Amino acid sequence: MLKIAVLVSGGGTNLQAIIDAIEKKELTNTQIALVISNKKDAYALTRAAEHGIKSCCISPKDYADRADYDQAMIDAIRGSGAELVVLAGFLVVLSARFVDAFSHRIINIHPSLIPSFCGDGFYGLRVHEAALKRGVKITGATVHFVDSGTDTGPIIMQKAVEVQDGDTPEILQRRVMEQAEWKLLPAVIQAIADGRVPIG
Ligand code: GAR
Repeated sequence: MLKIAVLVSGGGTNLQAIIDAIEKKELTNTQIALVISNKKDAYALTRAAEHGIKSCCISPKDYADRADYDQAMIDAIRGSGAELVVLAGFLVVLSARFVDAFSHRIINIHPSLIPSFCGDGFYGLRVHEAALKRGVKITGATVHFVDSGTDTGPIIMQKAVEVQDGDTPEILQRRVMEQAEWKLLPAVIQAIADGRVPIG
């Protein structure tokens, strides 16, 4: 059984996709050991509570410095027994210390086809605004391992989504979520649980 910790900051629709896939037995041999949010009011925490999943808020604001925050995160994840850390809309930039603690055991979902529209400043709706501004006709989502850079780690799986005439950033975001993100993330976790994608 692959135990995972899911890190969130907002609405948690990707967390919901993992929960739904587990409950429908489309995602097997996987258990969510812990959900961590950096924001107390993140709706993702409500989603976890509604499904009886252990969750907590660990905010950098509540710690004297970054090292103390990192240690609290590392302790919570290790304490949960999680072997894989899943960033599902987690908007805190990770430190090298945190990444080293879970080397090749952290995956992230990003709402574009990396290497397009990624890196510093590209998150959430901003990614889709940039894609529309550039006029690309195909976008999508990427799940990748996390290394010490921003969106630079090895790519695990990608799914393309068409941009349509008249798209707004919000409409495109929703299509990328529905057609790519909510399918990709459970699929990658299944591949890791099955040993088809090795972790550290
Ligand atoms: C998702 O679209 C995710 O890909 C994106 O934030 C959204 C979170 O939505 N992540 C990034 O932009 C990371 N760079 P959710 O809270 O509903 O899952």
